[in-house]
Amino acid sequence: MKIEPFEMERMQSTWENIVKYNMSESVVHPVSLKELREFGLNLDELDNIPLGYSQSNGTIELREALSRLYPGSTIDHIEVTNGSSEANYLLSLVLLKAGDEVLFQSPNYKQLYGVAGSLGASVKIFNLLPNNNWEPDWEQFDQALSERTKYIYISNPNNPTGSILSESAMKKIVAGIEKYDAYLISDEVYQGAELEKNITPSFWGMSDRVFVVSGLSKAYGIPGIRIGWIIGRPEIVDECWSQHDYITIGPNILSDKMAQIAVDPVNRAKLYARTKQIIGENRKIFRDWVDSFAGFFEYTEPQAGAIAFVKYNHNISSVDLVERIMKNTDVLIVPGSHFGMDRFLRIALGSPADEFKAALTRIKDEIDKLIAEG
Ligand SMILES: Cc1ncc(COP(=O)(O)O)c(C=O)c1O
Repeated sequence: MKIEPFEMERMQSTWENIVKYNMSESVVHPVSLKELREFGLNLDELDNIPLGYSQSNGTIELREALSRLYPGSTIDHIEVTNGSSEANYLLSLVLLKAGDEVLFQSPNYKQLYGVAGSLGASVKIFNLLPNNNWEPDWEQFDQALSERTKYIYISNPNNPTGSILSESAMKKIVAGIEKYDAYLISDEVYQGAELEKNITPSFWGMSDRVFVVSGLSKAYGIPGIRIGWIIGRPEIVDECWSQHDYITIGPNILSDKMAQIAVDPVNRAKLYARTKQIIGENRKIFRDWVDSFAGFFEYTEPQAGAIAFVKYNHNISSVDLVERIMKNTDVLIVPGSHFGMDRFLRIALGSPADEFKAALTRIKDEIDKLIAEG
């Protein structure tokens, strides 16, 4: 099975631990074990757990805790995975066969764009429109959706735009899957990282053709323990478990235990508050930074997530601009072309404020030089 390179992930894993300032992340500054201990994680208990295999679809305790977050679900609706990326992958393995079509919201985290292609499916796109507050292009959506569509993939809140679908947009997407017997994979890993709005409504419960994918990596700020999950129809979730048996068997036993602490509603609220506090502070700094260029950037403020997606007014390609910034300033950001949108940049909003300001100053110096060159 051939798969095209996942450009953004490869660029990140090549450079993110080498550069001085990694501003390519989409996660807030991650939580430490010490912080989790303050939330009630009993390290003595972790110390004594035999490091054996965990329940491969997630322990009953963790699936019970998750099912309480998704009303109407039972533990049989849930598969715990190694990150939400594994959840997306397992669903694609189960749902797709060669010749199927996938309808892919764009711009987006491009994992399933590559995975669907590698499984012999063709990928059609519906765009979010930058000049219309990232509202979906409904004409394109209606044209691309058909009886050949196996699933629609969206991230909501969206990576990289930070936009959130309106209630009417959600209903339209669900009506689309119902009409054509397709499925929806709603990747909700940024749910809980809203800046001003209330928590993003989940697609969970809107149709039994919906699969919600989520995990601890983004709004919870705990990517390192690699816990994600799928919630959906038990018979398909069961098939995901079978795929899981062949791929990684299951999640790590310590991570499962830590996840039980993180998803407890009281702790979850504290983790979300931590995330909102970090990105809320940085968002103001970022707004001033964008304004300081007087017109170089066009920027729709994100509604959620630890990322800003900005358009710039210059004819340099986004890959060349990112390479230039990295070479001359030791700061890594993501070119818009990794999301199919050249002349855009994705910049992380999740670092501690002092690092964030220092990195922005470096980027500004380089862009000022670029502007001066004409
Ligand atoms: C929308 C989306 N889904 C999934 C992932 C992968 O996250 P995880 O660390 O949970 O595998 C990312 C990472 O950036 C993402 O943006």
